[in-house]
Amino acid sequence: MAALEREPGFHNVLGLERAWSEDRLLMDFLDPDSPIHHLKRLSTAIYAELAAPLLTLSNGSLLDAGCGIGRFTTTAAATWRRVTAFDACRSSLNACAWHLGAAPNVRLRWADSSVLEETPRPSFDGLISTEFIGYLGDPARALDLMLRTAKPGAMVFISVEARPGGLTHVTDLTPAQVEQAAAGEPLLVPEDRYVNYFSLAGFRDLIDLSGLREARIEASHFFRRRPILARVGRRPARRRGLFRRRIGRGARVPIQP
Ligand SMILES: C[S@@+](CC[C@H](N)C(=O)[O-])C[C@H]1O[C@@H](n2cnc3c(N)ncnc32)[C@H](O)[C@@H]1O
Repeated sequence: MAALEREPGFHNVLGLERAWSEDRLLMDFLDPDSPIHHLKRLSTAIYAELAAPLLTLSNGSLLDAGCGIGRFTTTAAATWRRVTAFDACRSSLNACAWHLGAAPNVRLRWADSSVLEETPRPSFDGLISTEFIGYLGDPARALDLMLRTAKPGAMVFISVEARPGGLTHVTDLTPAQVEQAAAGEPLLVPEDRYVNYFSLAGFRDLIDLSGLREARIEASHFFRRRPILARVGRRPARRRGLFRRRIGRGARVPIQP
């Protein structure tokens, strides 16, 4: 319990581990047979277009903070010289290692966000962190720690959940929970979820205070699952695309503590 009080983001990790034990295929959306594969493929493609200048760099060292199952770790591993990725959810990291295959340029770490405090700085030429800092107790501190690991001139790509879109996406909340989150409070569903939804102004403030220079803020996407799934279908993908890329066969990237 003390850990949950120190870092409410761990509520997400508990929820994710339970979700993995209940429906592996739903969680592993890089698997073409996942019922949300196409939906996530679409949102990832939208992100990838926005993050293209970062993802296509071929030099230097990249950090993927809160990498999940590695939808960007896998892509970045094919271009960046060195990639470090961490996440606190072991099952997500296992899936990430599986999708990476043998990728000697990737270092995967099973670690919570406090690992950023120990990272030698400045270490990275690029940072990517999608849907991560908003899931932590103190997004501003997480962003600050992350940016301290960046070399001067590093390129950074961060995404957070938008409040209006995020709240229309969830269907299992009580009216009181929706009201609280709409008023700007973090959403807490104990041992399941903890989310800071951002207004545009709130995200702008966060970026301004972070000291990031030449920042560009863009709205990207928010899909309700059902209507989109009805459009994109559930058939397994045939073509090799962003999601089908497996860096190697046989061996897997080891996961380090
Ligand atoms: C919404 S997922 C996003 C994952 C991935 N970046 C993506 O876009 O697919 C949020 C991730 O944050 C991780 N997470 C939550 N709290 C964390 C913490 N305190 N330290 C490290 N990871 C955490 C979760 O395990 C989860 O994988």
